[in-house]
Amino acid sequence: MKKILVTGGGGYIGSSVVDILIERGFHPVVFDTFFWGKEGIAFQDNKITVIEGDVRNSRDLIYALQETEGVIHLAGIVGAPACDKNPLAHYTTNVESTHTLVNCMTDPEIGLVRDLIFCSSCSVYGNVNGLFDKVDEGSQTMPLSSYADGKLRAESIIMEKAKQVPHFSPTILRLTTIFGWSLRPRLDLVTNLFVYKALKDKKITIHGDGMQYRSLIHVRDVARALVDALQAPRYVRDRQIFHVGEETNNVTVRDLAELVKKYLPETEIEYQQVEDSDRRDYRITCQKIKNRLNWQAEYSVEQGIQELIEKLQSGTIDLEGPQYRNNNFDYR
Ligand SMILES: NC(=O)c1ccc[n+]([C@@H]2O[C@H](COP(=O)([O-])OP(=O)(O)OC[C@H]3O[C@@H](n4cnc5c(N)ncnc54)[C@H](O)[C@@H]3O)[C@@H](O)[C@H]2O)c1
Repeated sequence: MKKILVTGGGGYIGSSVVDILIERGFHPVVFDTFFWGKEGIAFQDNKITVIEGDVRNSRDLIYALQETEGVIHLAGIVGAPACDKNPLAHYTTNVESTHTLVNCMTDPEIGLVRDLIFCSSCSVYGNVNGLFDKVDEGSQTMPLSSYADGKLRAESIIMEKAKQVPHFSPTILRLTTIFGWSLRPRLDLVTNLFVYKALKDKKITIHGDGMQYRSLIHVRDVARALVDALQAPRYVRDRQIFHVGEETNNVTVRDLAELVKKYLPETEIEYQQVEDSDRRDYRITCQKIKNRLNWQAEYSVEQGIQELIEKLQSGTIDLEGPQYRNNNFDYR
């Protein structure tokens, strides 16, 4: 059975990736510091190998890479607020460790692991509303945060290594903003946060007029895209960048709040006349992944909202638990 290393495999996206890899007959090697605990992989028993390790540590990585045939790299400090709060950990984890990983994967002494799927972000485009109607993979990048800047730097480290090592075959997936329920839930992402606030306070607060666009994608669609990319023939995806998103999920923050209200009608939507600290504004095209990988999203935002309401109302998790929010975490 093929072993696939999933860094960050205990996280929001990673736990769904692990699930899909098992379904497709792979043996996932879950490599993670487990900042959020092991809840996300709790029911996988002997179908996975679990390695508690740090991507900043080459010894941990070399050990984890033994006998693996591909890597899905998700480990990181996620989102602008968390990176701003932990600048050193952000740099060492999100940028510097990319060097460590690609060096370990391509070191002739260790044995070449050819296939890398790297999880980047559409945040790299920043605020391009008014400049481009829609952005594609070749559009100009204008990162507005250290998080987005770190993603671009990591991409470039990976692509540089591919120029030096001909058989190294990386693929970069730039994800749109994710929503939905996973085995390790997150309540700090805009859709999930709106549902949580609507349930808890019966109120959603929007900073500004809410006309800024977000491109959204369900977490299980993202996980499937990552595994599909890994399984795609190399000639289709080698050294390519793909957006992972769905154009019908390009919505304004205002529309998103209204969608939540449709299912929780008692919700009040409040507009605060303060500038939104998150100035991202872009609409993404997703034709390349459709054409080249024959990939299509399966979940709509409405389906994701309905599922979230059901899960959050079921009492399965402590809604106030700090482990469901990345933004305030103190990373080391
Ligand atoms: N969630 C989104 O909307 C989104 C959008 C675009 C890109 N991404 C990217 O997807 C990836 C996964 O994000 P997520 O939403 O699942 O976040 P997450 O925080 O749930 O998962 C990240 C995982 O990485 C682990 N980790 C952190 N530092 C580590 C280290 N030094 N060594 C080993 N493991 C470490 C954490 O314990 C966690 O389990 C990240 O690279 C993120 O930047 C996420």
